[in-house]
Amino acid sequence: MKHVAVNELSEHVGATVLLKGWLYNKRSSKKLHFLELRDGTGIVQSVVFKGDVSPELFELAAGIGQESTLEIEGEVKAHPKQEGVFEIGVQNLRVLAAATDYPISPKDHGTDFLMDHRHLWLRSKRQHAILRVRHAIVQAVRNFFDDRGFTLIDAPIFTPNACEGTSTLFETDYHGQPAYLTQSGQLYQEAGAAAFGKSYCFGPTFRAEKSKTRRHLAEFWMVEPEVAFMDLDGDMQLAEDFLCAVARHVLDTRRPELEVLERDVSKLEAIKGPFPRISYHEAIELLRAKGKEIEPGGDFGGDDETVISAHFDRPVIVHRYPSNIKAFYMKRDPENAELAMCMDVLAPEGYGEVIGGGQREDDLSVLEAAVAHHQLPPEAFSWYLDLRRYGTFPHAGFGAGIERMVAWMCGLPHVRETIPFPRMLQRLAP
Ligand code: 4AD
Ligand code: MG
Repeated sequence: MKHVAVNELSEHVGATVLLKGWLYNKRSSKKLHFLELRDGTGIVQSVVFKGDVSPELFELAAGIGQESTLEIEGEVKAHPKQEGVFEIGVQNLRVLAAATDYPISPKDHGTDFLMDHRHLWLRSKRQHAILRVRHAIVQAVRNFFDDRGFTLIDAPIFTPNACEGTSTLFETDYHGQPAYLTQSGQLYQEAGAAAFGKSYCFGPTFRAEKSKTRRHLAEFWMVEPEVAFMDLDGDMQLAEDFLCAVARHVLDTRRPELEVLERDVSKLEAIKGPFPRISYHEAIELLRAKGKEIEPGGDFGGDDETVISAHFDRPVIVHRYPSNIKAFYMKRDPENAELAMCMDVLAPEGYGEVIGGGQREDDLSVLEAAVAHHQLPPEAFSWYLDLRRYGTFPHAGFGAGIERMVAWMCGLPHVRETIPFPRMLQRLAP
């Protein structure tokens, strides 16, 4: 008998097939057992009718525990009213591995309990939908840059120097020498842009922030494009095109998952260019107009970002923050040296910063001074300064955090469910 997957049932209506999977849920009445079989591709209701099977088999079906491994043989029937919904009329059933007392029942559990059982929680409908959206986002990310002629330049995870400030580094011992888990592949992408014109990296990055917010993970995935001869305006356009393409791909390929998540898809349909672009100082004015007491000079907190983004129906790009709150590598605004040629893209609905980037300092002496000013060890940055010594060039890029995009696209209040196994301030397991 042919083994088919739940998502292939439409091709087998009327036929008797073999399904393999796990028991997701069970309801019983005197004459019927409704077994919901889950196989990773979908869930199908399998009906065991007393009149169709032996008494032993009917008895066996009555006692199957949640998440037991099963083989089911039966006829595929199309739902009379709901298109795309199928049912199995069970003829035979084997329990390959019985499971009892599965810890996650359909009732409500606390977040910590579920997080402790993350390895099992992944099987539930909601988590399944979220991680399928995540996969679609990753596909969209790769397609976007691959289709535009970017070359993939993977950045190392062990690094000898900081990229995003020394306060959030995870230090480790590298054969007797201190090394840090990468905070960003950007500096390596700058070497990539010089070699390939357009390059990107996509991989895990690490921040030892002591933040316990709904937007922070200690380990998160970031895609970082870098482009030679692109300025800040070009960077903002690239970020806009990128987010529109990601949202489009999610809408095109993950409608059923968005439905499981009860996501208001009109919010995703609204992710279209042009995104409003406002300067840091305009953002300060906007916050003040909304009643926030804020002095210019500092960075925006999550609440500020929420207020700014709530003013717009689509992502908003905030550019030219004060350079003294930004990383050492940012180019100064030629029109005002106090400002950095940087930008953040803030997502609507309170999701906050999903992209950060900008134009890089390309003048060797200015960059040397910035390394000294930030008290960074010059020897560790010597290779990076070589990029200015040997054919310096204007260039820009950005970093987009995958988990924040997943939270936004799925409409989740916290990033902890956006990655299969989250690493947070107080969580290293499972
Ligand atoms: O703004 P960030 O720190 O920028 C950089 O690392 C640059 N070097 C990127 C570049 O220009 N190539 O981080 C970029 C993005 C943020 O906008 C956010 O989406 C995500 O990475 N991010 C985090 N996501 C989850 N948890 C954290 N702790 C994050 N920190 C940053
Ligand atoms: Mg940032």
